[in-house]
Amino acid sequence: MVQTTAALAVYPGSFDPLHLGHVDIIDRAVQIFPRVVVGILENASKDSLFTPAERVEMIGRLYAEVPSVEVRSFSGLLVSFLKELDATIIIRGMRAVSDFEYEFQMALMNRRLYPNAETVFLTPKEEYTYLSSRLVKEVIGLGGDVSGLVPEPVLGHLQARYRKATHPPTR
Ligand code: PNS
Repeated sequence: MVQTTAALAVYPGSFDPLHLGHVDIIDRAVQIFPRVVVGILENASKDSLFTPAERVEMIGRLYAEVPSVEVRSFSGLLVSFLKELDATIIIRGMRAVSDFEYEFQMALMNRRLYPNAETVFLTPKEEYTYLSSRLVKEVIGLGGDVSGLVPEPVLGHLQARYRKATHPPTR
C-alpha cells in the first residue's frame, strides 16, 4: 500500500491569473486539509501575462491572513516539488467532462513518477465551471468586463496590465 501524507495538500497550476474558480477550490481544500500549498508553475511560456514572481506576490497577498494557505512557485516536475515538501496529495479542480482526459492523464503520470502521489479532484461551484484563465485574459484583452470573475486585487492588476499595453508610456 502506498503512503499518503494528508496533512498537506499541494494545489498546482499556472494561475495566470488566479480566478474565482481557483479561489473556490482553495476554499474547499482548506476545509479538508490542515495545510494547502498553492504551487505556481514557473514556466517560460511567452504567453504568460504575469511573471511567476508577480503571481506569487499577488496570490500570497490574498492569503496573507490565512495561515493554512502558503503560496510558492516551483519549476521542473510537480512530483519533485511534492517530495521537497514531503507531500503526497495533489489537488486539482475538475470543472467539466472536458477536463477529464487531461486531468486523468496527469494524475496517472504523476502516480507513475511517484507512486505515493494521490490526486484529489474537487469540483467548483457551477457558476465557475466555464471559467478559465485563458478566457479571462481573452475577454479583458478585448475590452470586456471580468469583474466578478477574479478577486478584486487581481482585477486591479489585470486592468493595470492591459491599460499599460493599450496606452504605452510616451517619451
Ligand atoms: O493550471 P494548469 O496550467 O492546468 O496546471 C498544469 C500543471 C502546472 C499542474 C502541470 O503542467 C504540471 O504539473 N507541470 C509541471 C511539470 C510536470 O510535472 N509535468 C508532468 C505532469 S504529468
